[in-house]
Amino acid sequence: MRRAIIDLDAIRGNVRALRAAVGGAQSMVVVKANGYGHGAVPVAQAAVDAGADWLGVVDLTEALALRAAGIRAPVLAWLHDPDSDLTPAIEHGIDLGVSSLRQLAAASGANVHLKVDTGLGRSGAAPSEWAALFEEAAVAQRSGRIRVRGLWSHLAGADDAAQVAAFETAVSAARAAGLEPELLHLAASHAALRLPDARFGLVRFGIAAYGLGGEFGLPLRPAMTLEATVVSAKRVAAGTGVSYGHDYVTPRETTLALVPLGYGDGVPRHASGRGPVRIGERVYRVAGRVAMDQLVVDVGDDPVTEGDRAVLFGDAAAGNPTAGDWAEAADTIDYEIVTRIGPRVQRVYVGHGSRPPVPARSDVTAVWRGNVATPEAMAELGARIAAELRAGDLVLLNGELGAGKTTLTRGIGAALGVRGAVTSPTFVLARTHPRVDGPPLVHVDAYRLSSALELDDLDIDFEASIVVVEWGKGLLEHVTTDWLEVDIERPHGMEHLNSADAAAEVEPREVTLTGHGPRWKEWVDAAGH
Ligand SMILES: Cc1ncc(COP(=O)(O)O)c(C=O)c1O
Repeated sequence: MRRAIIDLDAIRGNVRALRAAVGGAQSMVVVKANGYGHGAVPVAQAAVDAGADWLGVVDLTEALALRAAGIRAPVLAWLHDPDSDLTPAIEHGIDLGVSSLRQLAAASGANVHLKVDTGLGRSGAAPSEWAALFEEAAVAQRSGRIRVRGLWSHLAGADDAAQVAAFETAVSAARAAGLEPELLHLAASHAALRLPDARFGLVRFGIAAYGLGGEFGLPLRPAMTLEATVVSAKRVAAGTGVSYGHDYVTPRETTLALVPLGYGDGVPRHASGRGPVRIGERVYRVAGRVAMDQLVVDVGDDPVTEGDRAVLFGDAAAGNPTAGDWAEAADTIDYEIVTRIGPRVQRVYVGHGSRPPVPARSDVTAVWRGNVATPEAMAELGARIAAELRAGDLVLLNGELGAGKTTLTRGIGAALGVRGAVTSPTFVLARTHPRVDGPPLVHVDAYRLSSALELDDLDIDFEASIVVVEWGKGLLEHVTTDWLEVDIERPHGMEHLNSADAAAEVEPREVTLTGHGPRWKEWVDAAGH
């Protein structure tokens, strides 16, 4: 009935464009507040796919949710309850923003980013506290209690140049205290794109990654479209009062369309009478007050009927009103419009890789990480996996195009002695390679499958085969309790994807093997591979 369509390709495209726009600076994508309402885990996954170096969240709870979903990218969390136990950050490899001596003590054992207040007046040590914080951090670092990985601050958008200068003063003071933080970061979206002096080594992209926040002169696309199905359309006489208080009265006989979205879903009541709604090819204004669950649109004599699609906001390029239009109507900012969309609105993920990852089952998983230097070594790793494979086994391969998934599968196929060349199955979805004795190898490309139902159409005999699936994350885990997951990453992202670049071809890959279920846990645990 009501949906927020989240286009993960838009997120990926935006993150790529943003990374390219900030030159050599690293990029953090901020996925706090449920990824600005878009869904923290799918957005985080998409951002990492697109090369984000870091993920930013507000608190440890949000950070742990990313880890529980299997996201292993570096994460920074920066707002802490005075009583909260920060030790899970150590276990889960989460960096902590630290604003005070007290937090520094509580963060013992963790990697920290010291936060200084350079003029926002929120968290961060005040200038009068910098010296003590830096001294104490240097002592703690020398004794091995913490690692000061970063020094950072946040801009107010008022006098950014003054804050840049204050930040530089803080950097000098930290260095004078004997600290050499490897990551200096100050800029969020606006400053990252408009004030190169504020970039330092890392920038934190929030709103721009979602395709909102203003015009940046980049090809950014809004990722969220908020829509609902018109639940009724009825003819009413002139003079009919609409919604509470009858703020709107129909000027003539007309059709009223009822849209099942209200302030209970995050649609601002403040935009009553003003918020734009597109139905068909026309954009109307909300008639009367936005109620908790619904709003009304006066569509005149247009042939709107029950079941039509009503779009509150989305991509202007597709003719939709925007979150910015709603922000204007509600006298707020587009950040708030998307972030407040509530849990009653179903998030529907579209775009390649739109399936949210299945939470890791930590009780039965084991993880091994290492480097694989060459394509030959990748095939060799495939052979080692093959030595373990038997009928009923499932191997999921994750990694961007060109990462080496097919090379690994080729290694598996060669070691199993399968018939037929193992090549990318992109155009066939699944290819079965028979063997003289033993179960066949079924090589699946799930890239274009969006649901397990589509997979069922392939009629794979999982029990009698060894199944290796590329792009299968989040789709296949229900068919077995045990599976081996192989993540292949290029440490420097995918910008070297140009295959004409011979050096890039032999760039070492970071491979992570995750054994799910008792069978694979044991193997990953034991072998050290
Ligand atoms: C500390 C910090 N950094 C970065 C961001 C991202 O900001 P923006 O959405 O403007 O890019 C936020 C969000 O408010 C933040 O709190």
